[in-house]
Amino acid sequence: MSSSTLSFPAFLIITTLLSTLLQRTVAGAGGDPLFHFCSSPQNFSQNSPYQSNLQTLFSQLADLAPPAAGFAKASIGHSSIDRVNGLALCRGDVDSDDCKTCVLEASREISRRCPLNKGSVIWYDSCLLKYSDDDFLGQVDNGQRFYMWNINVVADPAAFNGKAKELLGQLAKLQAPASSKLLYAVGETEVTGGGGSDKKRLYGLVQCTRDLSKEDCESCLGGIIGELPSCCDGKEGGRVVGGSCNFRYEIYPFVGR
Ligand SMILES: *[C@@H]1O[C@H](CO)[C@@H](O)[C@H](O)[C@H]1NC(C)=O
Repeated sequence: MSSSTLSFPAFLIITTLLSTLLQRTVAGAGGDPLFHFCSSPQNFSQNSPYQSNLQTLFSQLADLAPPAAGFAKASIGHSSIDRVNGLALCRGDVDSDDCKTCVLEASREISRRCPLNKGSVIWYDSCLLKYSDDDFLGQVDNGQRFYMWNINVVADPAAFNGKAKELLGQLAKLQAPASSKLLYAVGETEVTGGGGSDKKRLYGLVQCTRDLSKEDCESCLGGIIGELPSCCDGKEGGRVVGGSCNFRYEIYPFVGR
């Protein structure tokens, strides 16, 4: 039914199929990573100060993010050559136990997938983990991004696309006080499926990493919402997922609480 496809913007070339299971992964249960990049051209050495700072970073992020509404950032190391910067973000509906499980799993998995890499990022349904020797904190990451979409196409793509764009655009204003503070918003709206009588609901989510200002978050979201036509034209579900912000929409509820 809802198998989904994952791809990059064309310049990144690769396309991968994801299983039905993945899209239905329960928030917090961990599951498989959605994607990762080993993003630095440089490696650190085994048993170097950088490696030990990275281990400290991972454990701090797993300790700090869950009780802080699912977000933490940290920079570990005194000398600039050994310093590692990182952040962890859990999806806004994920509780603190599941957030911790996800960040710990992400740390293990990224170390396995990008061993010795000076910078990496990994995404799950429930969390994002990113680190680098570059001091990226507070800057919008427009470079690391991928798309996912449901392979099912709606009956009236033009009307549906308009509704999806409207819903996500509305959420991206982060109007509610909690949204404005947490840089996270969810909402739903009604869409017409086929000949006018086939009503469906459309569910949406937007979120940014909280090292960004609200203004930078809005601009990050504006940028990825602008990619709707290339990512998810007429598709029943879609996501644009980046290192600083992401959105998701589906015709079924996918948020926990
Ligand atoms: C980094 O390590 C990877 C994996 O061991 C290796 O393929 C790559 O050539 C290394 N890069 C540099 C710049 O040393």
